[in-house]
Amino acid sequence: MLVRTGKHHALIVTDATIMALGLTRELERQLTAHGVAYSIFDEVVPNPTIANVEAARERYLANNCDAIIAFGGGSVMDCAKVCGARIVRPRKPVKRMRGILRVLLPLPTLIAVPTTAGTGSETTLAAVITDGETHYKYPINDFCLIPHYAVLDYRTTIGLPAAITATTGMDALVHAVEAYIGRSTTKETRSRAIEAVSLIHRYLLRAYRDGSDAEARKHMLRAAYCAGIAFTKSYVGYVHAVAHSLGGQYGIAHGLANAVLLPHFLDVYGSSCQRRLADLARRAGVVVRNADDARAAAQFIAWVREMNAAMDIPTTLPGIRDEDIPLMAKRADAEGNPLYPVPRLMDARELERMYHLVQEREPAPAVRTMRAAREIQPVRRSPIHLASRTVRIARVAAHRAARRARRRIRAHR
Ligand SMILES: NC(=O)c1ccc[n+]([C@@H]2O[C@H](COP(=O)([O-])OP(=O)(O)OC[C@H]3O[C@@H](n4cnc5c(N)ncnc54)[C@H](O)[C@@H]3O)[C@@H](O)[C@H]2O)c1
Ligand SMILES: [Zn+2]
Repeated sequence: MLVRTGKHHALIVTDATIMALGLTRELERQLTAHGVAYSIFDEVVPNPTIANVEAARERYLANNCDAIIAFGGGSVMDCAKVCGARIVRPRKPVKRMRGILRVLLPLPTLIAVPTTAGTGSETTLAAVITDGETHYKYPINDFCLIPHYAVLDYRTTIGLPAAITATTGMDALVHAVEAYIGRSTTKETRSRAIEAVSLIHRYLLRAYRDGSDAEARKHMLRAAYCAGIAFTKSYVGYVHAVAHSLGGQYGIAHGLANAVLLPHFLDVYGSSCQRRLADLARRAGVVVRNADDARAAAQFIAWVREMNAAMDIPTTLPGIRDEDIPLMAKRADAEGNPLYPVPRLMDARELERMYHLVQEREPAPAVRTMRAAREIQPVRRSPIHLASRTVRIARVAAHRAARRARRRIRAHR
């Protein structure tokens, strides 16, 4: 493809682990065999930073590159996307790309090769970047960030350690669930989300238990891709908004935060997502077809908890400090509303409770979980906790404006 389109020098964006494992060797051999020169940028860190993006961009410019190959997980792909955005927008700093439609120019040729089966970044319009100075992690959403080509080769995921297989696979599940239960779905996004959940239901544990199970790896790569298609048009929700704030603040792995948070949010959403969640559970084969909504939704949430437990994913997250929670909740609130079509709006105060629910602290986890469950009760009884009627009206108006923006994005695609 690079030869056909006359490209002469590609920048391979990757990370140090992937390089150490020698995963890019075959790609490098093929580029050399076809007369395409390449340079490598392998400094991407998990929860990639603005500094990563700028360093990759410098490498691209210094070597006079004309294409980018992102070879890695979501961190690598997101860094490569924003590197491309900075190349076409040299005067616009990453900070000013936060939000929707802030890049708006075609990127240099971008090929994405995912090596985790989770983020779906190879097909999404999103890139999530952390400001290393402020620890603010935020999404940049623009349809020009969708890679021109995605190469799904399960062999790149065969060596993925079990723990990363688990958390990245659960990330894909969260994408499909948040896209499906949100208020901005299409027939296509619903169908992709169902396909993703059905594949994850059948193959994630298999891939976790036996990393060399080629069939399971192949289907998980497909699941992550389908979930990516679902959420790139139908968006994610508060699970992601909170997970991003935790990733930015403490470097907590994205999939881990999502996996731990998902059952809590599904509990708290309660009736606002019950019908859609039940529908997804039945269609994806997670519960029997004739289960009523209440039973199907409850069984789905129980299944998520069982999956976490079966793959040794904890029920809490370490290192969350009380004093950081208000700022993280504020950031999650700003990300979720108006951007995401969540089942129901929550404000920063209500989101603060979600951090406490997953906060690792003494006493023992069982006691903590019961206490947290009691604390969340009032939220379930009261549908929307907002400071005043005026604030609520403003928030709903912002939410509607975002819905219009989302329609614009869909129309573009
Ligand atoms: N753009 C999007 O649409 C989107 C969606 C979801 C998440 N994200 C972002 O993606 C990032 C997370 O990406 P991720 O979950 O893929 O993890 P990651 O890219 O951070 O990788 C996690 C770890 O796995 C290692 N690794 C990757 N592939 C490997 C392989 N084949 N074998 C062995 N080790 C391997 C990496 O070196 C790294 O240490 C987060 O920053 C998250 O916010 C983006
Ligand atoms: Zn995600």
